[in-house]
Amino acid sequence: MCEFTAPARGRRRLTHPFRSGGTLFGEKGAKSEKAGYIKRRHPMWFSCDRVLKEFMMDVFEAIKRRYSCRAYEDRPIEQEKLARVLEAARLAPSAKNFQDWRFVVVTDSDTKAQLAEAANNQTFVGTAAAVIVACSNNDHVMTCGQAVGPIDVAIALEHIALQAVAEGLATCWIGAFQTNKARDVLGIPADIAIIELMTIGYPADRQRSPKREPIEKIVCYQRWQFGS
Ligand SMILES: Cc1cc2nc3c(=O)[nH]c(=O)nc-3n(C[C@H](O)[C@H](O)[C@H](O)COP(=O)(O)O)c2cc1C
Repeated sequence: MCEFTAPARGRRRLTHPFRSGGTLFGEKGAKSEKAGYIKRRHPMWFSCDRVLKEFMMDVFEAIKRRYSCRAYEDRPIEQEKLARVLEAARLAPSAKNFQDWRFVVVTDSDTKAQLAEAANNQTFVGTAAAVIVACSNNDHVMTCGQAVGPIDVAIALEHIALQAVAEGLATCWIGAFQTNKARDVLGIPADIAIIELMTIGYPADRQRSPKREPIEKIVCYQRWQFGS
C-alpha cells in the first residue's frame, strides 16, 4: 500500500485499493515504495487522487456487496433514497441514447402480491418494499445483431442494483415471471416489452459468499483462447 504526504495538512496516511505503490497519475515524485512516502506532489494531484480513490472504492465496494436478496424487512424505502436509485437508472447509458426504458415502481401490497404470483409464486417478491417493473418500447436491433431493449434495460437495472447497495438497500433480479400475467396486473400495453422485474428493499437476510468462476476461465487476452 502506498502512503502520501499531504503538503498542506501535514502527513496523512491513505491507502489505495488497487495499487501497491505510486498513484494513478504516475510514479513521479515517489521516493521508493519501501520508504513509503510520495513527496513533492502538487496539492492538486493529491486531491484528484483522493477523489478518484474514494469513487473507485465506492463502486467496487457496491459491486462486492450486491447479492440477490430474497427476504426483506417490512419497512418502506425513504423517498429520497428511492429517488437516487431511480436517478441511477436514468443516468445509465443506452444505444444511440434512446433511453427507451420505462419503469413502473410498485409499492402497493395487493399489486406486489399479484406480481409475486405472476413470478411463479416467488412469495418474497411480495415482501419487498417495492418491485420495479422494467419495460422497453424499443425493438431496434443493432448492427451486431443484438436487441437494444433488453441490453439497455439490463444496464439501467444494474445501476439500480448498485445504487441500492450504496443506500443500504438490496435487490433481486426477477426473470422468472409470466409476462402476460404481469401485463394484466399493471395494465401494460401489448406493444411494450416487460424485460425484467427487480425487487428492492431493506434486506432481512445476509449475503452468501458468491459462487463465481475463476477469472482465468472467463477472461483471455488478445485472441480467443477458450476453445470452441
Ligand atoms: C436476468 C436475471 C434473472 C434472475 N431471475 C431470478 C428470479 O426469477 N428469481 C430469483 O430468485 N433470482 C433470480 N436471479 C438471481 C440469480 O439467481 C443470481 O443473480 C445468481 O444466482 C447469482 O447470485 P447473486 O446475485 O447473489 O450474486 C436472476 C438474475 C438475473 C441476472
